[in-house]
Amino acid sequence: MRTSGSVLVGRDGPLAALDAALAAAGRGQPATVLIGGEAGVGKSRLVSEFAQRSLVAGARVLTGECLELGAGGLPFAPFIGVLRGLVRDLGPDGVTGMLPAGAAGEFARLLPEFGQPARPGDPGEARARLFEQMLILLEQLSDRGPVVLVIEDAHWADQSTRDLLLFLIRSQRALEGLLIVVTYRSDELHRTHALRPLLAELGRIGWVTRIELGTLTRPETAELAARIVGREPGEDVLAAVYGRTEGNPLFIEALLAGGELSIGLPDSLRDLLVASVRRLPEETQAVLRVASAGRERSGHALLAAVTGLDDAALAQALRPAVAANVLVTDADGYAFRHSLIREAVHDELLPGELTQLHGRFAEAIDADRSLVPPGRAPVELAHHWHEGHELSRALVSAWQAAADSGKALAYAEQLVMLSRVLELWDKVPDAARSIGTDHVAVLEAAVRAAEMAGEFDRGVTLATAALGELDAAAEPARAGLLLKARGMLGLQLRRPRYTDDLEEAVRLVPAVPPSPERAQVLEVWAHDSHHHPGYDSAEFRARAQQAVAAAREAGDAATEAAALVTLATAEVPGGSVQRARSLFAGSPRGPGRRSRC
Ligand SMILES: Nc1ncnc2c1ncn2[C@@H]1O[C@H](COP(=O)(O)OP(=O)(O)O)[C@@H](O)[C@H]1O
Ligand SMILES: [Mg+2]
Repeated sequence: MRTSGSVLVGRDGPLAALDAALAAAGRGQPATVLIGGEAGVGKSRLVSEFAQRSLVAGARVLTGECLELGAGGLPFAPFIGVLRGLVRDLGPDGVTGMLPAGAAGEFARLLPEFGQPARPGDPGEARARLFEQMLILLEQLSDRGPVVLVIEDAHWADQSTRDLLLFLIRSQRALEGLLIVVTYRSDELHRTHALRPLLAELGRIGWVTRIELGTLTRPETAELAARIVGREPGEDVLAAVYGRTEGNPLFIEALLAGGELSIGLPDSLRDLLVASVRRLPEETQAVLRVASAGRERSGHALLAAVTGLDDAALAQALRPAVAANVLVTDADGYAFRHSLIREAVHDELLPGELTQLHGRFAEAIDADRSLVPPGRAPVELAHHWHEGHELSRALVSAWQAAADSGKALAYAEQLVMLSRVLELWDKVPDAARSIGTDHVAVLEAAVRAAEMAGEFDRGVTLATAALGELDAAAEPARAGLLLKARGMLGLQLRRPRYTDDLEEAVRLVPAVPPSPERAQVLEVWAHDSHHHPGYDSAEFRARAQQAVAAAREAGDAATEAAALVTLATAEVPGGSVQRARSLFAGSPRGPGRRSRC
């Protein structure tokens, strides 16, 4: 959260509503407040004011910002921010001390400070565990006193963040003393925006309230203008300011940035922001242009490396921008005070300039990965190489970023990165060699990511593409697994003939020698058979037994466990719970981990 440090104008109503929500949370009631409003209207400012008051009242405030990263987003970005803030306050041990043993392994997927990431097991379960642990952490914190969790700019939230947020808000009854505040740009929410369904869903939860933050009124505009220029504005000045900005504080500030009303009002509001930057010295503007090609926040060292200026020269060049409130600075680096200012500067760059700047960011990060926060380098590189039109390097870093997202259980983001790899494949020479994997393997990884991300249609398309490239006679096991995956996706999509794929998979994967692939296709085929209306229970049991046997022969314990669950399902309708128990007792690892009834 960034503030200009000036006095807050107006906003008594929204502040009172937030205070009331915190009080309700303090009484043990669940409470979430959604704050919508156009860019620059003062959402962050309101929330930071409220955060100050909450701190004074003894609450802990956790803040996470969603970043404008476009497609190659950083999964769980705001929650990583929250965890990072907590680690700063309490130390990694202080945070892990609040969690059940081993839980830090899930957080380590998000933040390297937590040590070694948990071993990858069943991906769906690992994700559920990560969500659960975030819940436990918040529960523990709110047991110690009131907590305000602020998620800023949810219109930029990645899919994983949206999922986790919905999960937490839905579970809020278990989180006494926690208030969740979410801000978003309501003017960005076009008809198909991904936040819309989430907002609709949240609207149905009784404890979620919504504030639409409007622009300042005319008298409030006069007050803000007076505070900026240091005296009451005349009627004509006020009319110009109010007419031009319609009471949006960001634009009021930009219009009056020079201490008075700029002469010759620019045409568009964007030009207004550009004009406030143009008043700065040329060397300051040059650094701002560079910074605009970076993320919202750039570290001191990163910006120094990209501009080629040393720390002192950089600080000197940027001082006027900080004084003019275009940039804000903190211990870590610089950030544009508002992303609209960054956008305005960025949009002034010529295409050639932009390509070159992104290339410089990528070179710098590639040469020294510590210039970006731990774990961020692949995502950053994927972004900058892509924007810098260095396609071969973009492909390699997208492949790495995909692997990282997979480890972080962020399948939607993994799918975005894999899609980029596929999109670049034909545009670069020797793609397979550069990532050490063939095209079908990328498609296979994308099918898995699509399945986990709930993008079933896309998964079917990817699986079909992969099957089209594979020689099933030469690689029957591989083709079998793809058919199995496509069949499962077809089931999710309620496609009429999805069982064809499952049967074809069983036909294709040879029974000898025994293999995990054989066991897996049998297990799914067996499990699926009881979905069919009027299924034959003897046949169902026989298939399940076949799957258990194949898994045992292949030494595939996870599939064996899943097949045993299926077999138990086959037994129970006949009444033999006893028999089901004895089946589990016979399994090497006890009851199966995956149940998909
Ligand atoms: N009520 C207000 N009083 C004074 N300044 C404000 C007020 N609301 C916003 N501002 C200033 O306007 C600018 C934009 O506000 P910000 O909170 O960043 O907008 P948003 O988060 O809605 O995009 C900031 O510099 C902020 O300090
Ligand atoms: Mg904001």
